[in-house]
Amino acid sequence: GFPKQVRLVEVAPRDGLQNEPEAIATDTKLELIDRLADAGLRHIEAASFVSPKWVPQMADHREVMTGLKRRPGITYSALTPNLKGLEAALECGVEEVAVFGAASEAFSHKNINCSIAESLERFAPVLERAQQAGIRVRGYVSCVLGCPYEGEIAPAKVAEVAKALFEMGCFEVSLGDTIGTGTPLKAKRMLEATARDVPMDKLAAHFHDTYGQALANLYAVLEEGIAVIDSSVAGLGGCPYAKGAAGNVASEDVVYLLNGLGIDSDVDLEKLATTGDWITQAIGRPNRSKVSVALAAR
Ligand code: HMG
Ligand code: MG
Repeated sequence: GFPKQVRLVEVAPRDGLQNEPEAIATDTKLELIDRLADAGLRHIEAASFVSPKWVPQMADHREVMTGLKRRPGITYSALTPNLKGLEAALECGVEEVAVFGAASEAFSHKNINCSIAESLERFAPVLERAQQAGIRVRGYVSCVLGCPYEGEIAPAKVAEVAKALFEMGCFEVSLGDTIGTGTPLKAKRMLEATARDVPMDKLAAHFHDTYGQALANLYAVLEEGIAVIDSSVAGLGGCPYAKGAAGNVASEDVVYLLNGLGIDSDVDLEKLATTGDWITQAIGRPNRSKVSVALAAR
């Protein structure tokens, strides 16, 4: 059955912006983070401590992480693919980080320049060091419903990588439909396979909306018991190593869906929609949240 409450992980400052070709001012990123917090988001993925050669837009990760106005009760997290990233993030006072692997060998190579097995070997010391520092580590699995290079991905492969991350100590594993090719029954099957190895309450859904299926897929996995959803205000986003990948499912649309289902998310939809309008205007992108567009047209 449906969960009573859902925790939203807002990824716009990271996933939403990482693929933008023009450098976005750090102040704009900081204002975005603060507006999202003001709208009631309690978990904000703020930056990415990756190589600036690989993802130039995230090059100001230190300035973002140290410049953000911390509010009590809010977790500001960052991606850290290796020890170098983690050490830098720790210096900036980060309280939660994430490692990111994939269920596809080809995507793993394109995205983080190593095999799946090598990535897991690389994550182990990140988890150890994070544990020493007393911070939580989230794990991502990309390409859970399809890969831009390999096509179909077996649910068993997703389960295998998710299990490895969980057993390594990730407190939660987020399942990424990186290129948004999934459909509801496929999403259910993938989740059923994965939930045999990782408890349902340790899994999150991270769906991109490339084919317009993200909300339908979310409905399917909510029914299975998923209670953590990653989303991006205004549907911003895309992965630089997944050509054609559109944004994440729009946070406004997810909140509207949850409201309709009577599921609590504690987010102020009006404030969130205003934030989406503001950031899309600031960076010159269309607002891909249908809810936001509808609210603005009233
Ligand atoms: P590499 O080239 O194999 O790493 O990259 P390396 O260790 O050989 O280092 C090469 C250079 O990068 C060196 O600099 C390092 O210092 C530097 P040089 O000596 O050449 O001047 N470097 C770093 N700099 C800053 N921070 C670091 C860091 N590490 C090394 N942490 C690496 C390996 C993982 C670093 C690289 O491939 C990389 O940065 N990849 C990031 C790709 C990325 O960010 N993708 C998008 C995020 S994932 C995503 O969007 C999917 C998700 O949303 C879920 C979903 O939708 O599926 C999470
Ligand atoms: Mg993503």
